[in-house]
Amino acid sequence: MNPKPVSSVTFNQPVSLPEHFDVLRQTIVNRNIGGNGPFTKRCEALLEKVSGKPVRIVTSATHALEAMALLANIEAGDEVIVPSYTFVSTANAFALRGANIRFADNDEYGNILPSEIERLYSPKTKAVVAVHYAGASADMDKIVEICKAKRVFLFEDAAQALGASYKGRPLGTFGELGCYSFHETKNVTSGEGGALILGDSSLLERTEVLREKGTDRSRFFQGLVDKYTWVDIGSSFVLSDLNSAYLYPQLEILDRINARRGEIRGMYRAELATALERAGVRILDTPSYNLPNHHIFAIICATPRQRQDFLAFMNSRSVLCTFHYVSLHTSPFAKRFAKGGRVDELPGCEKFSACLVRLPLYYNMTDEEAQFVIEAVKAWLK
Ligand SMILES: Cc1ncc(COP(=O)(O)O)c(C=O)c1O
Repeated sequence: MNPKPVSSVTFNQPVSLPEHFDVLRQTIVNRNIGGNGPFTKRCEALLEKVSGKPVRIVTSATHALEAMALLANIEAGDEVIVPSYTFVSTANAFALRGANIRFADNDEYGNILPSEIERLYSPKTKAVVAVHYAGASADMDKIVEICKAKRVFLFEDAAQALGASYKGRPLGTFGELGCYSFHETKNVTSGEGGALILGDSSLLERTEVLREKGTDRSRFFQGLVDKYTWVDIGSSFVLSDLNSAYLYPQLEILDRINARRGEIRGMYRAELATALERAGVRILDTPSYNLPNHHIFAIICATPRQRQDFLAFMNSRSVLCTFHYVSLHTSPFAKRFAKGGRVDELPGCEKFSACLVRLPLYYNMTDEEAQFVIEAVKAWLK
């Protein structure tokens, strides 16, 4: 039977596997829909295998970042350096604790420039957050060196980077703390969800308290105390096992999922790179030190006007492309962090905000759908 002809391509679809029906059925039949259940534990075990570090599942990467701020005792007046071109949670998690956010410019891959950490450092700096944009690694050797020399925490927002590595070491494992996201737009998903990666196991006990609303409930379930009570500040960061069940079969085939995304990126690149380049459009690359997880296929248009034209054209061909991230330093809320009321110019971030476009990319995408996208781009290039 011929496949149905493709008439449109959406931007993203969460991974869909036949096993999903069975695992969700299991949670319902076994009445394990609450938090920290069997699938959560199985997901944590798989993530610990991938990262080689202790990992705890939480409700989102946003909450993992908030937990980082709590674990590091970030407080009012501390300064935290973040890239400006990032999702708001990278900064907001620390602003929530009263920290002043310092915004850094990015390199050609969309990641924090090590030289920017040097520029923004002050004696009040408590932490640096390195984001691995698109699953492409920030320049970790230099960043680790600077953070060590300056004695500041290094946190990694690896929300987009599960399965990617820098010089063979998994992203999310270089700093004191890191996180992954399982939002429905990510390579693997639980609908909403995330994970906190711990630099070492000494942080496990407090993490479990923070996740359980500031109680030692987790120790109670392990039989270590005879009742649980309020022992610290905390919040409700425990993910329902329904969500973890959805995630589990994807984690089992993580390499296959990332490889399929890589194939689609390869098709786009092979058919479009030369012609895009002729039009002044750059494909967002992966640095040579990085094994990517193929989270994003993005192009950087020559001008904002060219991007507008491209997006409108693709839309007219029923291909949904998107852009993202207004650079945070230009946002209304960020003005309060501007030293002397002066907002820095960060040309690398501003270029990404004004000119980047993401093409459709998801695991269940067929070759025919990828070809439909390619034909639309070719028609625009004409
Ligand atoms: C770089 C980055 N950090 C944090 C997040 C927040 O993830 P979550 O939706 O799991 O809270 C995202 C989500 O898109 C992200 O891309």
